[in-house]
Amino acid sequence: MNIDELKSVAEAIVAKQKGILAADESNPTIKKRFDSIALESTEENRRRYREILFTADGIERYISGVILFDETLRQGTRDGMPFAELLSNRGIIPGIKVDKGAKALALCPGDKITEGLDGLRDRLAEYKQLGARFAKWRAVMEIDEHDLPSAYAIHANAHALARYAALCQEAGIVPIVEPEILMDGAHTIDRCEAATSQMLEILFGELNAHGVLFEGMLLKPNMVISGMKCPHQTSAQQIAVATIRCMRRYVPAAVPGIVFLSGGQSAEEATDNLNAMNTGDAHHPWQLSFSYGRALQAPVLAAWKGQEGNVAAAQRTFFKRCQLNGLAREGLYSRVMESN
Ligand code: 13P
Repeated sequence: MNIDELKSVAEAIVAKQKGILAADESNPTIKKRFDSIALESTEENRRRYREILFTADGIERYISGVILFDETLRQGTRDGMPFAELLSNRGIIPGIKVDKGAKALALCPGDKITEGLDGLRDRLAEYKQLGARFAKWRAVMEIDEHDLPSAYAIHANAHALARYAALCQEAGIVPIVEPEILMDGAHTIDRCEAATSQMLEILFGELNAHGVLFEGMLLKPNMVISGMKCPHQTSAQQIAVATIRCMRRYVPAAVPGIVFLSGGQSAEEATDNLNAMNTGDAHHPWQLSFSYGRALQAPVLAAWKGQEGNVAAAQRTFFKRCQLNGLAREGLYSRVMESN
C-alpha cells in the first residue's frame, strides 16, 4: 500500500472550498432522474448529460472529485476525450462507484446488504488503469417503526465496507466508505442519531480489524436528520449540533474528511445544513464537506430538460450550486445568495 499516495489523494479531495460531485447513478437510477424531465435514458443521452456537467465553466474551483459509474468511466466527450482525462486535465480527480447495489439480506425482512466484493480486486486494477483514483461503496439501512436496521444488518454491511476499503487501499485507490441511514420514513432525529451512532461504532471497529489506514480514506455518511415524513422537522442548527456530536463520538480524528451525502434533502437544505456545520463553534478534527448527487444535480436537470438550447443555462445553474456548496463548506453561505 502506497501510504503517501492514499493520503495525498484523500486530502486533495477535501481541500478548502472543495467537495465531490456524485454522478455515479446506475442505469436504473439515472432512468428515474431522466423520467422526471421526460427524457429517454439512452447511452448517448447519459453521455451527453455527464458531458454537460463535466465541461461546465469554473467548477474546478469548487469540485475536487467526481464519482463516475462504470459506463461513464468508459465514455468521453463528443470529440473523443475520455471523461477521466478531461476531469484530470481540469484538476478534478476521477472516482468510481464499485458496489453492485443493495439486495435483500437473507432471513432479515426489510434489511439490505450491498453486493460486489467478488472479483473486486480485478475490477479495481482495471479502474486504476482507466484513471480512477478513488472509489465509493454505499451501504443502505432503513429505519422503520419497529427494529430496523437490525444489529445483524449493521454488522454485515460494516464488514462488507471494511473488506471493500482494504481492497481499495491495496490497489492504491482511496476508499470512500458510505454507510447511509436513509431519511425515508417518519422517524425522529433522535432515532437517526441512535442508528447512525450504532453503525459508525461497528464500522470503525471493522475498518480497524481489516487494517484500513484511516488517513487514506474518507467517510460519506448521512447527516443526523429527522425522517422526511417526521412531523417534527428540525433546524439546520439542530442538525449541525446532532451530526457533529455523533461524528465526534465515533469517527477517529485520523480520518481527513467527512463528505456528507444529501440523501433526498432539497438543494438549498443540503447547502444550509453543511454551512451550519462549518459555522458553529463545535471543534472537529476533520474537514466537513459534501459528496452530493441529487442536491447538486436536481436543479441542473430541471434547467436542462434534455434540450440543447438549455445547456448554457443548465451549466450556469450547476456552477452556482457548486459555488454555494463550496462557500457552505467554509461557513460562508447564506440563503440570500440563492436569489442573487
Ligand atoms: P445523494 O446526495 O443524492 O444522496 O447521492 C449521493 C450518493 O452518492 C449516494 O450514494
